[in-house]
Amino acid sequence: MDSKRIPTINMSDKLKIYAVLICVVLFSACYFDKKEQIYPQAAVATCDTTNTTYTATIAPIISANCASCHSTALANMNGGGIILDSYASIKPYVTNNFLLNSIVQNGSVKPMPMNSPKMDACSIKKISVWINKGALNN
Ligand code: HEC
Repeated sequence: MDSKRIPTINMSDKLKIYAVLICVVLFSACYFDKKEQIYPQAAVATCDTTNTTYTATIAPIISANCASCHSTALANMNGGGIILDSYASIKPYVTNNFLLNSIVQNGSVKPMPMNSPKMDACSIKKISVWINKGALNN
């Protein structure tokens, strides 16, 4: 077999090919990234948690992210019978830590919202701040 007929790539060609590949990967990888996904702390840093109350802050977050399964009307059908649409119905899940554990998705209870991406960092932060301040009915 004549080895001279097999096309060979020399070292500097290889480096050029790698350089082009790396550039393509780097540019395409950054193109669709969102700041909030790359730097979740940044989103939390600009997250205003002052004046966080059940009525003005927590209820709307739960309503937007959880009510499709955990409202009184839909809980039996979609939410495993768990109702989270009032202060009184949510409080037991604050006390046993299921609410926070489910939304931070730490593996100790089922991750929520079920079959959806994790909630945004600021919503999670607001719920955690409300809980740390005593989960008041305010
Ligand atoms: C698509 C429907 C759906 C959505 C949306 C949803 N859940 Fe659930 N959730 C369920 C179901 C179903 C269960 C019962 C799971 C089981 O027992 O296997 C459940 C269980 C739970 C539990 C108990 C977890 C456990 O391990 O026992 C908590 C707490 C909870 N959900 C909180 C939430 C919160 C908070 C949200 C909104 C951020 C949310 N869920 C959104 C369907 C949903």
